[in-house]
Amino acid sequence: MAIYDTLGATYGRTRRPDSRIAAQIHAALGDAASVVNVGAGTGSYEPPRTVLAVEPSQVMLAQRPPRSAPAVRAVAERLPLGDDAADAVMALLTVHHWTDLAAGIAELRRVARRRVVVLTWDQRIFRERFWLVRDYLPQAAAFDDTRAIPTDRLAALLGGARQEPVHVPHDCADGFGAAYWRRPHAYLDPRVRAGISLFAQTGEDAIAPGLAALTADLETGRWHHRHADLLARDSLDVGYRLLVTDS
Ligand SMILES: C[S@@+](CC[C@H](N)C(=O)[O-])C[C@H]1O[C@@H](n2cnc3c(N)ncnc32)[C@H](O)[C@@H]1O
Repeated sequence: MAIYDTLGATYGRTRRPDSRIAAQIHAALGDAASVVNVGAGTGSYEPPRTVLAVEPSQVMLAQRPPRSAPAVRAVAERLPLGDDAADAVMALLTVHHWTDLAAGIAELRRVARRRVVVLTWDQRIFRERFWLVRDYLPQAAAFDDTRAIPTDRLAALLGGARQEPVHVPHDCADGFGAAYWRRPHAYLDPRVRAGISLFAQTGEDAIAPGLAALTADLETGRWHHRHADLLARDSLDVGYRLLVTDS
C-alpha cells in the first residue's frame, strides 16, 4: 500500500496550487512542449502541456480534478516510459518519500529529453528559520532530519543543478509544511495538519506538547510579540528550493 493511501485522504482540501509558486515552477520548465509529473499527487502545478502524471497512491489519483492529464499508478524508481519520453520531467515535494532516491533521480534523467525540475527543501535552513519546528516541535524537526534530502546530494545525483529559492507568500494557497508561517493559528487545526506529512508522520502524541505551548503563546500574545518582524513580511525564504538541471 502506498504511504499516501493513508496520508492523503483529505489532501485536496488544503493542498491547492499557489499561483506565485506555479509561475516560478512553470518558468523553470521553460519552453518544454511536453512534461511528465512524477509523484504527481492530485496534480498541483501541472502545466497544460503535461502528457503524463505518475503517482503510486490510488487515494491521491482519485482526487485529481476532472480533465487533468492522463495518470498512471507507478513509482519514480521504475517509470513506465521510454528514454527521452518528454521534454521535461518535474517532481514536486515528493523525493523525500521515495524508497530509492538514486534510482528515482536516474529515472527522471532517463525520461527527460531536456530538463528536470525538482522542488524540495533545505533542512538546515528550514529547521533554523521556521519558528514552528525550531521553537515548538523539535520532534518534528528531528523527524525531518531523517528524511530530508540534502540539496547538494540531490544536485549531485542530478548531475549538477541550479538552485532557486522558492519564497513562501504570507497567504500561500498550498498548505504545505511552512505555508502558514504568518498564520500560526492554522497549525492548531487538525484539517490543516492532515495535509502535511511532517505532522502525520511525527505523530499527534509527539507534537501535542508543542501545540499546547503554541496555543498558550497565541493566547497570551507572546507569539505575536516575539514574531513582530514576521508579521511585517509578505513572503519568507524558509528553505524551499527548486533544483533545475538540463540534460
Ligand atoms: C507531498 S505529496 C506531493 C504531491 C504533488 N507533487 C504536489 O506538489 O502537490 C508527495 C507525493 O509523492 C508520492 N510518492 C511517494 N512515494 C513515491 C515514489 N516512490 N514515487 C513517486 N511518487 C511517490 C506520494 O504518493 C504523494 O502523492
